[in-house]
Amino acid sequence: MEDPKRAAAIAALNEIPNRGHGAVLIVGLGTGSTSRLFVEELGARVRAGWNLFGVPTSESTRALASAVGIALLDDEGPWDIDVNVDGADEVSAKLDLIKGGGAAHTREKVVNYASRRNVIIVDATKMSTKLGERWPVPVEVLPFANGTTRAHLERLGVPVLRVRDGHPVKTDAGNLIFDLKAGPIADPGALDRALRGIPGVVETGLFVGRADVVLVAGGAGVERLVPRA
Ligand code: 5RP
Repeated sequence: MEDPKRAAAIAALNEIPNRGHGAVLIVGLGTGSTSRLFVEELGARVRAGWNLFGVPTSESTRALASAVGIALLDDEGPWDIDVNVDGADEVSAKLDLIKGGGAAHTREKVVNYASRRNVIIVDATKMSTKLGERWPVPVEVLPFANGTTRAHLERLGVPVLRVRDGHPVKTDAGNLIFDLKAGPIADPGALDRALRGIPGVVETGLFVGRADVVLVAGGAGVERLVPRA
C-alpha cells in the first residue's frame, strides 16, 4: 500500500461535495503532515478545474495552499465552510480527538466550528480506546502569567512546556503550549471545560464530538468511520 497518510488524504477528496464541480465550495484546510498531503492533492484538482476557496488553519498551510494554487478567503470571516479536512494526533473509540501536535489547534478549532462537516484523516497508529492513552493534551496559553497558568494546570495533570531547539514553541498567535499529561481521560468534555475555565488558557486540543467522518488508513486500505448515533 502507498503511504497511509497519502491514502487517507486522497480518500478525503471523495468527501468534497460535488467533487468541486458546480457551486463554489469553501474548504477548511488543516495543519500537519497528513493535511499537507491533502492540500497538495486538492491543489492538483484545483489546477484541473475544481472550483473552491480554502480557509487555512495556520501560516504554514496558508503558504502551501497558495503555492499549489488554492485561492484563500481572508482571516476575518465569517465563513460558511462546506467541509473541513484536518488531521489528528489521537482518535478515541468515540471519535473524539486530540489535536495540536503542530501547535495549530486554536485556529483548527475555530475552523472546525465554522464548518458544516469535519473530515479527519489519520493513519491507524492514531487510534486509541480513550483519549490521552497516546498523547498529552496540548493547551495554548498566553505568555503573560504563564507560570501562574501552569500552576493551575497542575491541578488537572502534568503540564510540560513545549520546547524546540532550546526555545519555547510559539503558536501563530505568539502564545505558548503546555502539553498536559492527563490520560487516559475519563471525560474529555469535562476536562476541556475545566481547562478552558482557567484564565490565561486560550484553547485546548480536545475536540469532543467534532468529527463527522474519520478516514483511517492502514494496511488493508482506508476505513471510513462515523460516530455512533
Ligand atoms: C496540528 C494538528 C495536526 O492535525 C496533528 O498534529 C496531526 O499531524 P500529522 O498529520 O502530522 O500527524 O493538530 O496542530
